[in-house]
Formats: sequence, structure tokens, C-alpha cells
Amino acid sequence: MKRITLFTAILVTMIMVTISSCGSKRNPGRIYMPDMAYSRAYETYALRDSNIFTSDPADLGHKIFYNNQPVNGTIQRGELFPYTLPNDSIGYKMSAQVLNPLGPWTKADSLEAGRLYNINCAICHGATGVANGPLSAKIGAIANLTLPLYVSMADGTMFHSITYGKNNMGSYASQLDRKQRWMVIKYIRSLQPKAGAATTAASATAVTDSAAAKKTK
Ligand code: HEC
Repeated sequence: MKRITLFTAILVTMIMVTISSCGSKRNPGRIYMPDMAYSRAYETYALRDSNIFTSDPADLGHKIFYNNQPVNGTIQRGELFPYTLPNDSIGYKMSAQVLNPLGPWTKADSLEAGRLYNINCAICHGATGVANGPLSAKIGAIANLTLPLYVSMADGTMFHSITYGKNNMGSYASQLDRKQRWMVIKYIRSLQPKAGAATTAASATAVTDSAAAKKTK
């Protein structure tokens, strides 16, 4: 008799366990060690629970700080160094010293640079750089990039103007990353007359230089 009672007790317990664990397939039941059930690791771009994460360092409380930004002073592996010259006339002058950091140019690079130029710049500067893009009817004083002034202009100066904008031209820093801006400059070089033609026009540069200096912000 005792055996039967024990047996029934075990059977009832098993049935109850089975029933309770089948209640809902979606419900994981009671969780102990929640960090293992819900990992604190997160995926890029995943939505983060604002009850758990905060991007405001002043509002930490019990929350985890995460602002999707790289740590100050760090750069992504393979990324070019930040451009630090200020957006003023001194920065503009000094920019001429900054060299284009891009290495040898492959066919794919030049195709990509041309694509970027045609998307971002050709609307004003024209596909061949002679300032005849569709917007040239609306926007005045677009630079004809094939003129001697721009043939002799340093890559760094172009980079400065593309980064910060200049007069009627806006900044392209948010549309093109640093590498893409240097690539577009290389592409502009391919639109310009070659070195021989540039030297014959060197005397004209002297005249246009003073005009350029006036335009400088
Ligand atoms: C909205 C029309 C417009 C677009 C788009 C535009 N530019 Fe310009 N760009 C201008 C104008 C206007 C100037 C003349 C600025 C001045 O010197 O007053 C200029 C000047 C320049 C200069 C000479 C800068 C200097 O220091 O004198 C370069 C280089 C240049 N643009 C490159 C680019 C590149 C590269 C792009 C695309 C990423 C681009 N521009 C897109 C209008 C434009």
C-alpha cells in the first residue's frame, strides 16, 4: 500500500510538471540568472531598451551608458586621420601643406571616384569640370576646375574647401568621408589639362591668385 501511494505521488508530480512546462511555448517560465537569459551583448543598430541603456552620461542612474559613438580620440581601423585645420583664413592657407594620403590608384578606385564626383559635384562643376553643370544657370561663380588657378591649387586646399565649403559651395563633409573627398580630388586632377599645359598657363595663375586671395574667407 505504501508503495502505491509513493508511486501515485511521483506520477501526479510528473504530470503537474509536464502540464506547467507546456503552459505557453513563448513563456520561458521562471528565470534565474537573467543575464544569461537576456544577454547584455548588443548588436550594431539594434534598438536598445531605454529602461536599460542611456546615451546621456549625466543621467546614468542604474542604466548602462552607450551612445553608439567611438571612444573620444580613437579612429576606426584603416580610417584616415581627422582633418584638424580650422575653418578660417589661416587654416585655408595652411591647408596647401596637407598632402593627399591616397596611395596608388587602381582602375576600380578611379571609377568609384568618378561616380562620387558625378553624384555630388557635377551638378555644378559639370561632368568635365568646366562649371557647366545643370545648376550653373542658378548658382553664380562656380569654379571652372580646369582653369590654371585650380590646376596649380594644392590638393590640401581643395580638401579644405570641400570639407568646409566655400562661398556658394556647401560643405561635403557629411556626404563624403575623408577618403572619398581625397578620391574626388584625384578625379578632378584627371579632368584637368596635363602638366605641360599647366606650365604654359602659369603666368595666368599669378593674375588669378590675387583674385583667389580676395575670395578667401
Ligand atoms: C552648389 C554648386 C556646387 C557643388 C554641388 C559643388 N561645388 Fe565646388 N564650387 C562651387 C562654387 C560656386 C565654387 C567657387 C567658390 C569660390 O571660390 O567662391 C566652388 C569651388 C570649388 C573648388 C575650389 C575651391 C577653392 O578653394 O577655391 C573645388 C576644388 C571644388 N569646388 C570642388 C568641388 C567638389 C569636389 C564637389 C563635389 C564634392 C563640389 N565642388 C561641389 C559650387 C559647387
